Amino acid sequence: MKKYNNNDFRDIDVGKTVTVYGWVNKRRDMGGVIFVDLRDRSGILQIVFNRGYLKNNFELAENLRNEYCISVTGELIKRDKDMINPKLPTGEVELLVHELKILSEADVLPFNVYEEKEINENVALKYRYLDLRREKLQKNIILRSKVAACIRNFLNDKDFLEIETPILCKSTPEGARDYVVPSRVNPGNFYALPQSPQIFKQLLMIGGFERYYQIAKCFRDEDLRSDRQPEFTQVDLEMSFANDEDVMELTEEMVHYVVKHIKNVELDRFPRITWQEAMDKYGSDKPDTRFELYLQDLTDILADTKMNVFRNAILNGGIAKCLIVKNNGDKYSRSDIEHMIDYIKDFKAKGMAWLKYDNDMFNGVIAKNLEDEKLAQMKDRFSIDNNDLVLIVVDKPNIVYQSLGALRIKIANELNLIDKDKLNFLWVTDFPMFEYSDSEKKYKAMHHPFTMPKNIEEINIPQKCLSQAYDIVLNGYELGGGSVRIHNPKIQQEVFKALNLSEKEIEQKFGFFVEAFKYGAPPHAGLAIGLERFTMLLSGTNNIKDVIAFPKTQSASDLMMEAPSELKIKQLEELKLRLEENNE
Ligand code: AMO
Repeated sequence: MKKYNNNDFRDIDVGKTVTVYGWVNKRRDMGGVIFVDLRDRSGILQIVFNRGYLKNNFELAENLRNEYCISVTGELIKRDKDMINPKLPTGEVELLVHELKILSEADVLPFNVYEEKEINENVALKYRYLDLRREKLQKNIILRSKVAACIRNFLNDKDFLEIETPILCKSTPEGARDYVVPSRVNPGNFYALPQSPQIFKQLLMIGGFERYYQIAKCFRDEDLRSDRQPEFTQVDLEMSFANDEDVMELTEEMVHYVVKHIKNVELDRFPRITWQEAMDKYGSDKPDTRFELYLQDLTDILADTKMNVFRNAILNGGIAKCLIVKNNGDKYSRSDIEHMIDYIKDFKAKGMAWLKYDNDMFNGVIAKNLEDEKLAQMKDRFSIDNNDLVLIVVDKPNIVYQSLGALRIKIANELNLIDKDKLNFLWVTDFPMFEYSDSEKKYKAMHHPFTMPKNIEEINIPQKCLSQAYDIVLNGYELGGGSVRIHNPKIQQEVFKALNLSEKEIEQKFGFFVEAFKYGAPPHAGLAIGLERFTMLLSGTNNIKDVIAFPKTQSASDLMMEAPSELKIKQLEELKLRLEENNE
């Protein structure tokens, strides 16, 4: 077995004879002497082939090419002073090789492993096993393993049990599209892969296990983004005889523990804000709090303006909010602002009004149309000064939040307002129980239908009813979320009723689950953190693929395995499936 890590050798090891293993990262042939950077998982050791010392035929060393897998035995020697490489931890020593064994040869590679250069993503994914050899991915995957180990240590210490739950199951309630698997022995029937272990972990509470966790695979067929994959991993936990405070307290302690171990950073307590505060101030339920650019309200100012666009929008239930870009007005030309307007149209905003304040006066189209007293009120309320830019959106609340929420991040990036070294965690609480789905034209559970309402007496006023749900947010990403669950069948029935679910639908979807609550369900609460998002933010990348060994592309394909792929006719027949004719 391999005994040493290449990165471990230092000055004090000089004189030792050792056998080391690894890959030829890079080679330099200087005639009678060949230098090779020998890479293993730990790092790099320089090895030297000198015609005089090598017992093998020197030609063997001359034949070495990048990514050959070799083992070498030799003596560790001190490097000459002028040959010391301060960039390498092993930079003061090198191995003078006596014996070389080529364990595997390598063809010419599709890209260089030793270079950190960006490579075409499709090529990188097709040859993922080579990309995985590169430093960045090695570091990230090692980090991910450490984060998971830390979490296991912490939760095991707190008396949690790690329990696995099924992958072949029935639809779970997270609300994305399911991945389904046909059943051969039950033709015409399908399993759904779990979107999370939600139902099982609640049943484990009913089953009496009190404290459960799992580093669990989840599957969701949804539109992919830089922080979303079709299959991902949750740190999923559930506790009986516990409330929202207990879950938040424990999770916070766990996150503190992980960050201390991984980054040696002592975090402060996480601030908490309500969902409504988050929307009002940041336009997002996962606010990035690393910079001070906030949404400001001017609904009252514009409610009675003579400008019809604003007044009518507010009259129809709209709100008016603005961003004040302080002291950076000169950075944005008219055409830059036009681009911003195009940008927020993606969030269904009909438009954006803007004002610049320069030479002690407002400029911009609406400066001429808006009443002087309104301008004065704004100047006063927002302490507007020279070189400030005011960006105003008046629309339905959701549109205002989404468009200005996204714009504040875009501007912060453009103006470099974000301190990338910061880890700003926070809790968002008091989520609405229900949200209106424009596509389905009905109210749906914002979290899931087993979430305990906060104000049960308002269960039938969907716009007002809040839930006992909480999200943990880091640097503008939703890291995790959870809730207190309903354990009282009567309350559950009321929630189902408020969601307009018929008896038949309830029976079909969750009949077994509803029944389980008839047999003495303990009060319980829990949460799940996305392991990839957590690792991604700890490693400083913003691409979830960078922390997954074998990720999928934007179109949910695995380019290396070429999955998904067609089934053979025989398999389809066994499954009693017939594909629709493709006439193209
Ligand atoms: P939720 O749906 O909020 O809650 O998911 C919890 C966390 O899982 C991560 N996550 C994802 N990560 C990568 N790709 C995805 N497609 C993806 N979807 C979700 C996020 C998210 O915050 N059962 C509940 C939890 C509970 O109530 O206990 C649930 O799944 O980091």
